[in-house]
Amino acid sequence: MNDKMLIEAACEAQSNAYAPYSDFKVGAALWGDDGQIYTGVNVENCSHGLTVCAERSTVSNAVSHGCKSFKKLVIYSSCSPPATPCGACRQVLFEFTPDLEILCVNNSDETNHYTLSQLLPDAFRSNRH
Ligand code: THU
Repeated sequence: MNDKMLIEAACEAQSNAYAPYSDFKVGAALWGDDGQIYTGVNVENCSHGLTVCAERSTVSNAVSHGCKSFKKLVIYSSCSPPATPCGACRQVLFEFTPDLEILCVNNSDETNHYTLSQLLPDAFRSNRH
């Protein structure tokens, strides 16, 4: 697995985003610890608060396939600088892989590298898990 493959998967997913209200399509691809790629997209709703971000739909896809820890996430958008995950998605990602590597990429090949611990310092964690 290399970054190019993961970026291609996220780019391909982006075309399936359902974003008729914002026209802001996002695709994401997770490289699971099981070696598989899991993709997801943002799914909007006319009741706007029900919208699900690409990152969270990707996590749901991975977990639905039994994959609960990840090596890397690519988020693919068409804005500059490339979109970073929202606060809610950062917390959801933290649940599974607190030190996740994240690449934010756009359609002009701008690529910004982050770690989740950089994007969500001092994250809330439960002692029940
Ligand atoms: N969105 C994502 O899917 N991921 C991000 O990283 C930023 C925002 C979506 C939510 C909504 O469908 C649209 O982008 C505009 O906010």
